Formats: sequence, C-alpha cells, structure tokens
Amino acid sequence: MALYSKKHSQLIKIAFMAILGCVGVVQALTVEVKEGNTTCIKAELSASLSIMYSTNNGTETVSVPLPDSATVGSSSTCGGDGRAPSLVVTFGNGHSLALSFSSNSNQYRVNNLTVGYNLSDSVTFPASSTTGVASLSTASVEISAGINTTYRCLSTSTVTVGESRVNVTFSNVRMEAYMTGTDLSPNETICTADQTVTTEVHPTTSAPKTSAMTVAPSPSPPGTPERGNYTVTNSNGTACLLARMGLQLNLTYSSLSQNTTVQQIVNLLPTQTKSTGSCDQNSATLWLLEERTNLSFSFVLNSTSSKYHLSGISLSAVWPDMSEPFSGSNGSLDYLRGTLGRSYMCSAEQTLFVLTGFSVNTFQLQVQPFGVSGEQFGAAEECQLDEDNMLIPIIVGAALAGLVLIVLIAYLIGRKRSHAGYQTI
Ligand SMILES: *[C@@H]1O[C@H](CO)[C@@H](O)[C@H](O)[C@H]1NC(C)=O
Ligand SMILES: *[C@@H]1O[C@H](CO)[C@@H](O)[C@H](O)[C@H]1NC(C)=O
Ligand SMILES: *[C@@H]1O[C@H](CO)[C@@H](O)[C@H](O)[C@H]1NC(C)=O
Ligand SMILES: *[C@@H]1O[C@H](CO)[C@@H](O)[C@H](O)[C@H]1NC(C)=O
Ligand SMILES: *[C@@H]1O[C@H](CO)[C@@H](O)[C@H](O)[C@H]1NC(C)=O
Ligand SMILES: *[C@@H]1O[C@H](CO)[C@@H](O)[C@H](O)[C@H]1NC(C)=O
Ligand SMILES: *[C@@H]1O[C@H](CO)[C@@H](O)[C@H](O)[C@H]1NC(C)=O
Ligand SMILES: *[C@@H]1O[C@H](CO)[C@@H](O)[C@H](O)[C@H]1NC(C)=O
Ligand SMILES: *[C@@H]1O[C@H](CO)[C@@H](O)[C@H](O)[C@H]1NC(C)=O
Ligand SMILES: *[C@@H]1O[C@H](CO)[C@@H](O)[C@H](O)[C@H]1NC(C)=O
Ligand SMILES: *[C@@H]1O[C@H](CO)[C@@H](O)[C@H](O)[C@H]1NC(C)=O
Ligand SMILES: *[C@@H]1O[C@H](CO)[C@@H](O)[C@H](O)[C@H]1NC(C)=O
Repeated sequence: MALYSKKHSQLIKIAFMAILGCVGVVQALTVEVKEGNTTCIKAELSASLSIMYSTNNGTETVSVPLPDSATVGSSSTCGGDGRAPSLVVTFGNGHSLALSFSSNSNQYRVNNLTVGYNLSDSVTFPASSTTGVASLSTASVEISAGINTTYRCLSTSTVTVGESRVNVTFSNVRMEAYMTGTDLSPNETICTADQTVTTEVHPTTSAPKTSAMTVAPSPSPPGTPERGNYTVTNSNGTACLLARMGLQLNLTYSSLSQNTTVQQIVNLLPTQTKSTGSCDQNSATLWLLEERTNLSFSFVLNSTSSKYHLSGISLSAVWPDMSEPFSGSNGSLDYLRGTLGRSYMCSAEQTLFVLTGFSVNTFQLQVQPFGVSGEQFGAAEECQLDEDNMLIPIIVGAALAGLVLIVLIAYLIGRKRSHAGYQTI
C-alpha cells in the first residue's frame, strides 16, 4: 500500500511538473549580485537540497527545495580585494547555498559550493541530535562557461557535498558571473547533459543561433592538425616570437559520461585560437587561447651560449566531458633547441612529453623565440628527425650511384674482353 501510494504521488508529481512545464511556469528563482549599479552575477535556477542529519536513533534524510522566498545574502560579493565573486542565497531559518567563482582569461567556473543548514530549525530537521548551523563545501562542481556567455543547464545535475551527507540538485539553470551588462548574455555555454538531450531528442536540429557552444571534441582520432601562424609582438608592436605549427593535444582525463579515464586526441584549430604572449631578454612565452583550452609554451635563452630551448608547457582545459577541469604544467623541459637569431624547424611529427597522461604532438613546426628581425624567420636549424628523414634519399641516391658505377665498370670490362677475344676487322 505504502509503495502504491508513493508510486501514485510520484506520478501525480510528474504530471504536475509536466503541466507546469507546458505552461512555462517551472519554479525558478531569479537572483542577482550587484555592486553599485553594476550586476556581476545573475542566476535563474531551481535547486533542491537533500540533507542527511543525525537523530538520537540513527540518521534521517530530508529534502529541502530552494523556496521562492529565498533572497540574496549580504555576504554575496562581486569580489575584489583578494575575494572571489560569490552568490549567497539564504532561505528559511538560517539556511544558505553559496556559489563562488573563479576565472581565467576565457572561462569562469564555480570553484566552491557551500551549503549551510541550521539544525536548530526543528521544523526542517525534526529530532536532530545536534543544533546550530552546519556548513559543508565542495570544490568539485561541474559548472563552467566561457567568459561573456551564460551557463545554461536545463537538465538536472547533482552536486555531492560532504561525503554524500548533502546533495544539491540543480535544474533549469541559467547563470552568468563576471557579467559586463545587466542582463544574462544571449550567448550560451550549454552543459554536457543538455547537449546529450538535444542530440537524442532532436537529432536534426542544430543548436540555438545565439549559442557560443563549441562542439565536443570528437572521440575518434582527428587526423593531422592544421598549421597555425602565431606571432607575439612587443610593446612597441614589433614581432618578437614567431611560430608556425600544427598542434595536437594528447590528454588523459576522467570522463563524466563514461565514469572512467579516457584518452583523447584534440587538434588545436588555428582559426579559433588567439595567440598572445610576452618577450623578455632571456625568456619568451607564447599563449594560445581557445574557448576551452589554454596552452602556453615558455622558451629560455642562455645568453652565454646563445642557445635557446623550450623549457615549459602548461595547459588548462575545460572540455565538456571532463569530470573536473584539467590543469597541468612542466617547467623543466628541454625541447626545440636552437641558436639565437636562427629558427628551429621540424617538419616531421614530434612528440613533446609533458606529464603522465599529457603530451603535445607538433607537425610542420618552425619557431623562433628570440632574435627575430623583420617579422621573418632566421636561417632554419633542422631537427634530428628531419635530418634522419633526409638521410634516406641520400642513402638511396648513393646506392643508385654505386649501382650505375658497377654497371659501367662491368660494361667497360666486358668491352675490353670482347676486344681481346674477337679482333676487329
Ligand atoms: C547609478 O546610476 C544612477 C543613474 O544612472 C547615477 O546617478 C548614479 O551615480 C550611479 N551610481 C553609481 C555608483 O555608479
Ligand atoms: C547523495 O547521493 C548519493 C549518490 O547518489 C547517495 O548515495 C546519498 O545517499 C545521497 N545523500 C543524500 C543526503 O541524499
Ligand atoms: C526514533 O525514536 C522515536 C522515539 O524513541 C520514535 O518515535 C521514532 O519513530 C524513531 N525514529 C526512527 C527513524 O526510528
Ligand atoms: C536557527 O534556527 C533557530 C530556530 O528556528 C533560530 O532561532 C536561529 O535564529 C536560527 N539560526 C540562524 C543563524 O538563523
Ligand atoms: C567580454 O566583454 C567585454 C565587454 O563587452 C570585453 O571587454 C571583453 O574583452 C570580453 N571578453 C572576452 C573573453 O570575450
Ligand atoms: C569553500 O569556501 C568556504 C568559505 O570560504 C571555505 O571555508 C571552504 O574551505 C571552501 N571549500 C573548499 C572545498 O574549497
Ligand atoms: C555573442 O557572440 C558573438 C560571436 O562570438 C559576438 O559577436 C557577440 O557580440 C556576442 N554577444 C554578446 C552580447 O556578447
Ligand atoms: C603568417 O604570418 C606572417 C607574418 O605575419 C605572414 O607574412 C604570412 O603570410 C602568414 N602566413 C599565413 C599562412 O597566414
Ligand atoms: C622594440 O623593443 C625592443 C625591446 O623591447 C627593441 O629591441 C627594439 O629595438 C624596439 N624596436 C623598435 C622599432 O623600436
Ligand atoms: C562510477 O564508477 C565507480 C567505480 O568505478 C562506481 O562506484 C560509481 O557508482 C560510478 N558512478 C556512476 C554515476 O556510474
Ligand atoms: C649557459 O651555457 C653555458 C655554456 O654552455 C653553461 O656553462 C651554463 O651553465 C649555461 N647556463 C645555464 C643557466 O644553463
Ligand atoms: C597518446 O598518449 C598515449 C600515452 O599517454 C600514447 O600511448 C598514445 O600513443 C598517444 N597517442 C598519440 C596519437 O599521440
């Protein structure tokens, strides 16, 4: 009977939600954080908290939906002074849900979700064995989006906090931090769950026109990457680092959808990659920025020996299926060794191993990080791989020349013999 009624109420709930959904009045809270006249964070969302707490005879779990009466707490901030921008929503008798954000030049994300719940509130937590406000937080929240875009996730997603003692289930989320206007940007970053739903339900319809979503990198090997043309310019506008190369990232990360580690090969698309960087006396850095990928190459110059090399590679990637953003670097590399004033060239594919599970494959590479004059590459120094490849035609050529020589000698000897055997008339 209990089972029946539970199932029954579930059905009613689903029907009710469906009706609400059709009418377009699914409960969603709209909140914003302002400082002066500028809005920095705005969110429309539905959320429900599932909280486990102790009673004298065991544990109880309650479900607490975020009510319409929830308000923006005074500890919300737009950041600054070393503080992260943060949205704190308070509701009921001293309960709260806080999201704080971090960003790099092209992405922002929720880096901390904190739930505060008042166990003294005996209406919400009957027979709780403890009182006072408990606070639990997590840094693993899968909410990230491109700067100047709205994060959109209509699907439900659950964030687990404090060893499963609290689960926060979000749905119908539209949210933006680091805003430049007062309204949510029409350009959206659509969460992975919604992308899956879209492809399942409407396999032929494309994403909304306003979407800033980039297509998930394909799991199949993408082939040889297109060659990019990247330049770093000085403060006075002269080129100081030149690089032409095709780049492929080989990254192992934990996949959200497959719940396992996957290895993915992703080509950097030159048309969607911005290059920037810096040049100093003895160091130069090239930054390559794509919507979801930030890659940097650091070169150092030994002015005593006038030799340079690639000393560091760093990557931060927020790919759609990553269970958490990837960030890794190695600052003690020794690749692409060249001489000041000359360029380093390697037409053959080269693998630059960075970290376990992260390497970079380069194709048709030519770089010059120091001593660039007139926006042109200096004389090229070829890599060993190219020289080895060059050796093959040389060997083949030498072998052919040898063969010709042998045939010629044999012919001459043969002619001499025939001269000896048969006297010419
Ligand atoms: C906010 O806007 C009003 C009217 O546009 C203006 O008078 C006021 O100075 C602004 N305040 C700040 C802090 O910018
Ligand atoms: C949270 O979710 C996990 C995994 O789905 C579950 O095992 C746990 O019981 C949930 N906790 C609460 C308080 O609902
Ligand atoms: C806990 O104990 C109280 C009284 O002893 C009882 O009324 C209640 O049903 C018990 N709760 C559970 C979950 O067993
Ligand atoms: C927690 O709940 C109790 C009882 O409802 C209330 O008196 C107290 O003010 C609440 N604490 C906070 C921090 O709001
Ligand atoms: C975001 O928008 C602001 C103002 O429109 C602009 O200055 C900034 O460069 C943009 N940032 C990115 C990463 O597009
Ligand atoms: C989240 O932020 C709160 C408040 O600033 C802090 O106490 C907590 O340690 C943070 N949690 C994580 C996982 O970073
Ligand atoms: C949306 O993105 C397009 C292309 O990236 C850009 O031209 C446009 O200015 C963006 N709109 C807003 C409001 O940021
Ligand atoms: C690469 O950049 C150089 C210097 O800006 C330019 O002269 C050249 O035409 C570019 N090549 C391609 C293929 O874009
Ligand atoms: C530009 O600046 C670099 C050093 O920052 C200097 O070596 C170079 O001569 C300058 N070029 C011009 C045209 O001023
Ligand atoms: C993911 O895998 C782990 C162990 O491999 C398992 O315990 C967990 O339940 C899985 N989670 C999901 C959502 O499938
Ligand atoms: C620079 O090169 C010189 C000569 O090869 C060498 O002795 C010195 O250790 C190098 N310096 C650095 C910082 O590697
Ligand atoms: C990618 O890296 C793995 C090791 O992490 C390696 O086995 C594999 O061959 C690499 N694939 C490519 C295409 O470089």
